[in-house]
Amino acid sequence: MKVLVVGGGGREHTLAWKLAQSPSVDKLYAIPGSAAMSEVAQCVDIALSDLDAITDYAKNEGIDMLVVGPEVPLTEGLADLAQSKGLAVFGPNKAAAQMEGSKVFAKNLMKKYHVPTAAYASFTDGDAAKAYIKEQGAPIVVKADGLAAGKGVVVAQTVEEAKAAVRAMIEDKTFGQSGARVVIEEFMEGPEVSVLSFTDGETVVPMVSSMDHKCALDGDKGLNTGGMGTIAPNPYYTDDVAAECMEKIFLPTVAAMQAEGCPFKGCLYFGLMLTPDGPKVIEYNCRFGDPETQVVLPLLESDLLTVMQACTNGTLDKTEVKFSDGAAACVVLASGGYPVAYEKGKEITGLENGQVPGAADVTVYHAGTAIKDGKLVTNGGRVLGVTATAPRLTAAITQAYAAAEKISFEKLHKRSDIGLRALKALAEKQ
Ligand code: AMP
Ligand code: GLY
Repeated sequence: MKVLVVGGGGREHTLAWKLAQSPSVDKLYAIPGSAAMSEVAQCVDIALSDLDAITDYAKNEGIDMLVVGPEVPLTEGLADLAQSKGLAVFGPNKAAAQMEGSKVFAKNLMKKYHVPTAAYASFTDGDAAKAYIKEQGAPIVVKADGLAAGKGVVVAQTVEEAKAAVRAMIEDKTFGQSGARVVIEEFMEGPEVSVLSFTDGETVVPMVSSMDHKCALDGDKGLNTGGMGTIAPNPYYTDDVAAECMEKIFLPTVAAMQAEGCPFKGCLYFGLMLTPDGPKVIEYNCRFGDPETQVVLPLLESDLLTVMQACTNGTLDKTEVKFSDGAAACVVLASGGYPVAYEKGKEITGLENGQVPGAADVTVYHAGTAIKDGKLVTNGGRVLGVTATAPRLTAAITQAYAAAEKISFEKLHKRSDIGLRALKALAEKQ
């Protein structure tokens, strides 16, 4: 089969790496892909915004399955367009992708179908939003309705901070149309868990749980980023919590989307908070997480393409999805200054053919690298995700850091505490 991965970051490198292991994949393609992905896939230089060109290319090339990484093309209707041209797609259509594309849609869905989440109200009027904030008090959370590249959430510690966020979103239009509507939400507390799941619109199969580290600096300090590292499985996600999430969150969510006439097919990402009142949804994403994928897929023992096909043709209930009992850790190497301003084009040393030589259980997924004058250079904020797998989490973390230490480039920044909280939670359990 011919499979085309849409996207070119660390998540897509991981998807391509995993798909390349499938005996049924004869040829892999990527749009636009990356220098690293070209090791396993034929990369085609088409803009992610050009949905017509992507689907025309897939049609002409006889692609059997499109696998879409990022949310933007999904919310813009890439899956719908591909299906209209007779192509199979792993990824939700535009209506289902609203689960991520509109926080108001997601919150209203949860309210209607009693899926536990933070209490909220939505506003298009700045004054009304500010009055609500004053009434509720701080801490309080302000979210732009639409996509904002991970920057549309302000966890405000004071009423003033929350009002400033409303001003920026609704009045100053910092996020354009995405912030024309805002959700104002109750502040929740508790450990966070990411659960990516496979779903064919009816059956839902959660993948191994994971923990992201979103803040730029150690100790969960600094600005929010796309993710500075991940571990799997997440020790806070016990069997009891998993059973509760299945019953109160996963099944009701998938059934709700079906009842609304927009069944979700693809990878549905549940961002959860384990509050004292039980697990609640922070957010839904309509795609694989980045860098969660970098720790989840290396633990998948089943054939990824087979599972993806089951999601597109509605046979997930008859398909085995098996994960190893081991653990994985991913340390992200970022460009100094990320997520604000950073330089590109710095030479990366310590890798051979994109990997750390001699590190058997380590795979380096490239998020932002390029080849310039024959040399591997940095080409983004997040540059590399160094993932190690091991029977236990402690070893996975140690091995990921040992491999990460061998890689260098000017102004490299990484957190030194990826997985530390998870290890503490594990120690407390024993
Ligand atoms: P999101 O972009 O929706 O993933 O939100 C980014 C981060 O903001 C989450 O990972 C949480 O740490 C935090 N957050 C979002 N909503 C809430 C909430 N209602 N209460 C507390 N923290 C939140
Ligand atoms: N790592 C968080 C996300 O993919 O949204």
